[in-house]
Amino acid sequence: MGKLMVLTLFGAGLALIGERLVALRQRTNASREVEPVEPQSCHLIEGLENGSEDIDILPSGLAFISSGLKYPGMPSFAPDEPGQIFLMDLNEQNPRAQALNISDGFDKASFNPHGISTFIDEDHTVYLYVVNHPHMKSTVEKFKFEEQQRSLVHLKTIKHELLKSLNDIVVLGPEQFYATRDHYFTNFFLVLLEIIMDLHWTYVVFYSPTEVKVVAEGFSSANGITVSLDKKYIYAADVAAQNIHVLKKHENWDLTQVKVIHLGILVDNLTEDPDTGDIWAGCHPNGMKLLIYNPEDPPGSELEARRQGKLSVEPVKPPGYRAMGSGTESGS
Ligand SMILES: *[C@@H]1O[C@H](CO)[C@@H](O)[C@H](O)[C@H]1NC(C)=O
Ligand SMILES: *[C@@H]1O[C@H](CO)[C@@H](O)[C@H](O)[C@H]1NC(C)=O
Ligand SMILES: *[C@@H]1O[C@H](CO)[C@@H](O)[C@H](O)[C@H]1NC(C)=O
Ligand SMILES: *[C@@H]1O[C@H](CO)[C@@H](O)[C@H](O)[C@H]1NC(C)=O
Repeated sequence: MGKLMVLTLFGAGLALIGERLVALRQRTNASREVEPVEPQSCHLIEGLENGSEDIDILPSGLAFISSGLKYPGMPSFAPDEPGQIFLMDLNEQNPRAQALNISDGFDKASFNPHGISTFIDEDHTVYLYVVNHPHMKSTVEKFKFEEQQRSLVHLKTIKHELLKSLNDIVVLGPEQFYATRDHYFTNFFLVLLEIIMDLHWTYVVFYSPTEVKVVAEGFSSANGITVSLDKKYIYAADVAAQNIHVLKKHENWDLTQVKVIHLGILVDNLTEDPDTGDIWAGCHPNGMKLLIYNPEDPPGSELEARRQGKLSVEPVKPPGYRAMGSGTESGS
C-alpha cells in the first residue's frame, strides 16, 4: 500500500472513532442530573458500607446479598477485602446483614461475587449460584445454603469458553441457568475499543451440564437478567443500549425475542416483583459520573418500575444510598 492510502485509512479510522466517541457521550448522557427523592422506608443497612452488588430474596423472606463488586475501571470501597455473601431476614423489624460462613476448600481470598440467583429444589434444598471473578476471570460457583448453620457449602465451580465476562445469572433448574456476558473481549483495551465502537457482540448464554449455548445475541452490553413469574419469559437488560429485551423461553431452552423496551437510561439489574409481576430495574442516570466517581458528587441511582406498558421513573438517593443500589462501587 502507498503512504497516501495508509494515511487515508488511518484518517478514516480516526474519524470513525471520533464519531463513535460522540455517540458514546450521547449514550452515557453525561449531563443528566437526578433530583433525589427520599423514600421513607429506606434506611442504612449496617455491614454493607463497602457496597452491595446483587440481591436475591427467598419466598421465606431471607435475602442473599453479594458484596460490592471489584471490576476493572470501577472504583471499589474495599479493594483488599475478599468478597462476601450476606444474609438478611426481611421479616425482622430492623434487618441486619450478616456475612455467611463459606465452607473450607473454596478460595475465599479471591472471591469477587457479581450477579447471584437462588434455586429451591423439590426436596427444599436451597442452592445459591454466584457469578464470580477470581483474579478478574469469570466462573459460576454453586453453593448449598445451610440455614441452621447460616453457611454456604461450596459444591462446584463451573467454567466454560462461552462463560466469559459474565455479569448476571438466573437459575431455572437444579443445574440449568441463563447468564449474561457484558463484554465480548476480556482484554481491557479491547473492551474499551468494543465500547467505543458499540459492537453489540455480547449475549445471553444457557448452561446445563450437557449443553452450553448462546440463546440471544446482539447486545451492546448484556447485564441484569430475570425470569417472569410464570417462567415463560426472560427479561435481559442491555445497559449500554438502554433497553430491556423480552425473550420467550422454549422447551429446548432457546430464546426468541418478543420485544425490546427502550428506556433511555442505563439499565442494570432487574428484579421481578413476586406479587405483581412488575419488573423493577436498578439504573444509572449518569454513566460518566459512575466511572469517575467523586464522593462529593455521587452518581446516584434510579429505580424504574415497568407495569402494563406504563413506565415510572423514581430517582433514589436515600441516606444509605451507598448500601443498596447506588451502583457507585460496582457498576456493571
Ligand atoms: C439526557 O437526559 C436528559 C434528562 O432526562 C434529557 O432531557 C436529554 O435529552 C438527554 N440527552 C441525550 C443526549 O440523550
Ligand atoms: C470496609 O472496608 C474497609 C477497608 O478495606 C475495612 O476496614 C472494613 O472492615 C470494611 N467494612 C465492612 C463492613 O466490611
Ligand atoms: C465457619 O466455618 C469454619 C470452617 O468450616 C469453622 O471453623 C468456623 O467455626 C465457622 N464459623 C462460624 C461463625 O460458624
Ligand atoms: C444493582 O446493581 C448495582 C450495580 O451493579 C448494584 O450496586 C446494586 O446493589 C444492585 N441492586 C440490586 C437490588 O441488586
